[in-house]
Amino acid sequence: MTFKLNFKPSVASAKALLRAATPLALLALLVQAGPAHAQAAFPDHAVSLVVPFAAGGPTDVVARMIAIPMGRALGQTVLVENAVGAGGTIAAAKVARAAPNGYTLFLHHMGMSTAPALYKKLSFDPLKDFDYIGQVVDVPMTLLARKDFPAANFSELQAYLKVNKDKVSLANAGLGAVSHLCGLLFMSQVGVDLTTVPYSGTGPAMNALLGGQVDLLCDQTTQTVPLIKDGRVKVFGVTTLNRLSALPNVPTLDEQGLKGFEVKVWHGMYAPKGTPAPVLDKLGAALRTAMQDPMVKTRLADLSSDIVSPDKMTSAGLKTFLESEIAKWGPVIKKAGIYAD
Ligand code: MLT
Repeated sequence: MTFKLNFKPSVASAKALLRAATPLALLALLVQAGPAHAQAAFPDHAVSLVVPFAAGGPTDVVARMIAIPMGRALGQTVLVENAVGAGGTIAAAKVARAAPNGYTLFLHHMGMSTAPALYKKLSFDPLKDFDYIGQVVDVPMTLLARKDFPAANFSELQAYLKVNKDKVSLANAGLGAVSHLCGLLFMSQVGVDLTTVPYSGTGPAMNALLGGQVDLLCDQTTQTVPLIKDGRVKVFGVTTLNRLSALPNVPTLDEQGLKGFEVKVWHGMYAPKGTPAPVLDKLGAALRTAMQDPMVKTRLADLSSDIVSPDKMTSAGLKTFLESEIAKWGPVIKKAGIYAD
């Protein structure tokens, strides 16, 4: 904004002009500085972190663990919001449509990379509708049964399934959830087809296992380690190629004959596409600070879950990895002819 002076002002008139101009000039400055000012102030209210599965399950455990230190780093509360259904795709679509202002974030696992191949009709594109904050943590899985399931170990389980496969149920968190993918891999390697029972997350699926309503569940250590240690579920093996420090006496499925059986669940944090770069930078820095929190580090180590390296906990680190995972899973899922819709 400019002020044109077309008269020679006296000292008095100049003073009057200045008095009149100052509020206008200030206003102009504020208007010009508006967006930068808004960004500098981010966040000025609570931030929502959307989790695509039920409360109490493994993704929810990770989200709630990091929400507090991330909120501390941002100077605002980070509220965890569970938006369940369709293997995580309902929440992803919701976040893709949210305002790109940094106040709606999304924590999802590798389901973000399998959904484009599993779902023929997907209302979001993981590579076009999101901005990327960073990878977060890699979590192993465990193959479990209800406590009173007849088989005592993995070889007894295989023998039991051969004879009783029609009676055995396998829970999961819906088509495209990692419990679903792990269950598919298990059934194909063992050569059985079990009745699958979907839930809105492995939180409720675990409740069904604890209550004896279902027989088997493949689930992440972020939920299963305390239950295994307390003897509340029966464990047949871990899905990593090496044994886990948290469960040193539990053999891997690979060492028990399922050669090459390996599932490790990576997680990433996203924002809707179009989130301003300074806001993304602030969120990325807050995530990296949160993952250095001693409580978070200790708890994740106790669950044999690996916090990713700082270079992966970046926008570029997540984007590049997501692209490679979509390229990896697409042909595998298409070849297997598995579709969720
Ligand atoms: C959950 O949080 O319920 C799980 O991550 C679901 C799954 O993918 O198995």
